[in-house]
Amino acid sequence: MAKVKTTFFCQNCGTQFAKWQGQCNACKEWNTIVEELVQKPEKSDWKTPASSAKRASIPLLINQIDTSKEPRLNTFDGELNRVLGGGIVPGSLTLLGGEPGIGKSTLLLQVSLGLPYKTLYVSGEESQKQIKMRAERVNPNNSNCYILTETKTQNIFKQIEALEPDIVIIDSIQTLHSDYIESSSGSISQIKECTTELIKFAKETATPVLLIGHITKDGHIAGPKILEHMVDTVLQFEGDRNHVFRILRANKNRFGSTNELGIYEMQGTGLREVSNPSEILISKKDEELSGNAIAATLEGMRPLMIEVQALVSTAVYGTPQRSATGFNAKRLNMLLAVLEKRAGFRLGAKDVFLNITGGITVDDPAIDLAVVASILSSNEDVAIPKDYCFAAEVGLSGEIRPVQRVEQRILEAEKLGFSTIFVSKYNKISLQNTAIKIQLISKMEDLVDYIV
Ligand code: TYD
Ligand code: MG
Repeated sequence: MAKVKTTFFCQNCGTQFAKWQGQCNACKEWNTIVEELVQKPEKSDWKTPASSAKRASIPLLINQIDTSKEPRLNTFDGELNRVLGGGIVPGSLTLLGGEPGIGKSTLLLQVSLGLPYKTLYVSGEESQKQIKMRAERVNPNNSNCYILTETKTQNIFKQIEALEPDIVIIDSIQTLHSDYIESSSGSISQIKECTTELIKFAKETATPVLLIGHITKDGHIAGPKILEHMVDTVLQFEGDRNHVFRILRANKNRFGSTNELGIYEMQGTGLREVSNPSEILISKKDEELSGNAIAATLEGMRPLMIEVQALVSTAVYGTPQRSATGFNAKRLNMLLAVLEKRAGFRLGAKDVFLNITGGITVDDPAIDLAVVASILSSNEDVAIPKDYCFAAEVGLSGEIRPVQRVEQRILEAEKLGFSTIFVSKYNKISLQNTAIKIQLISKMEDLVDYIV
């Protein structure tokens, strides 16, 4: 009988060790090394469906390489196409990560049902009946989508060989297991092996494969970091489960930019593309309330108008509370310090709460000015006119700094009917005859003059 072989893997970075040790040499994490059973029989009898047809690669001059035969597959989902950079590249591996219940299975099932190609949706998590029930809600009339509930890669490849689908979807990579590795599904060595087999299959047959991946508590895709290195594209599906908006972004994309963003709304009948996010994110109120300010931000290449709400009140306990939802708390503290030092507002003894509406997280620095404006507005209890908006970064010395693509932001604000936009004096703006008033400011004091 063959000797049982075990290897030690770091659960954090995937590095392999011959024996157990307390700290991983590669990523320096403690207590992450776990023993896993590994048994690899000779692979000579094993092949992915197309390996027999495989030809050896020869070097080609870059000008001779023909890309015209490989158009991207349209996913018939405008948001997904945009994030992928114009559709799915044949033979590519795409990994979709996200928290449980965020809608990963819904998104990919919906995409498979909307495709006119032959698609195979492999699920290791739900039964065929469960998927059918979901499919009936999402898109009841489709006849090209095959559902397979299977977790063993060798069986999946057998079915693929018989079916010859144009696109394969795997839900999820953590449930797969390969016969050639003894350890349990979801372990590092299984994930590595199954992904390798799928890559081999995808590259050899030019069939695109979409994988769903779970994420860990701290928001990383479960499994080794190398999983992200192995695939071509890593998409992240995020959002607040209690809100209806979901954001799809690319963390890595070998075939396009990572700047693009897709926005969806979760409805009773699946995910709906949101093509005019700004109009939805700004609450339509009749009365003007203090503490609200609108920021003209950019998410990737898309302008997005976002509402910032602040509440400043006298602290009840000794240490004032500062809390921020959707905004970096450290940055909030910095802006409060700047307001105190440069504009003379005594916020040291006040509680400050900040919220970005819609459950969205923003890291565009252009939101700073709206954050400062909303804090001032709440502190002084004066409402900012609801047709004002802001787009500038605030520096440590209270200077209002320019932001990138300011003209795009101005045009979006104009389109949505804002009367005034506050931007930095140092931004170069060549727009003329705009219906919107472009208010240039250079210091924090200027802002204070205008709004309080
Ligand atoms: P799901 O796709 O199962 O999440 P994941 O695969 O990321 O774990 O998503 C599930 C959530 O979406 C679930 O809580 C219910 C909700 N949902 C709707 O609101 N409407 C729908 O049409 C569907 C299919 C799901
Ligand atoms: Mg799921």
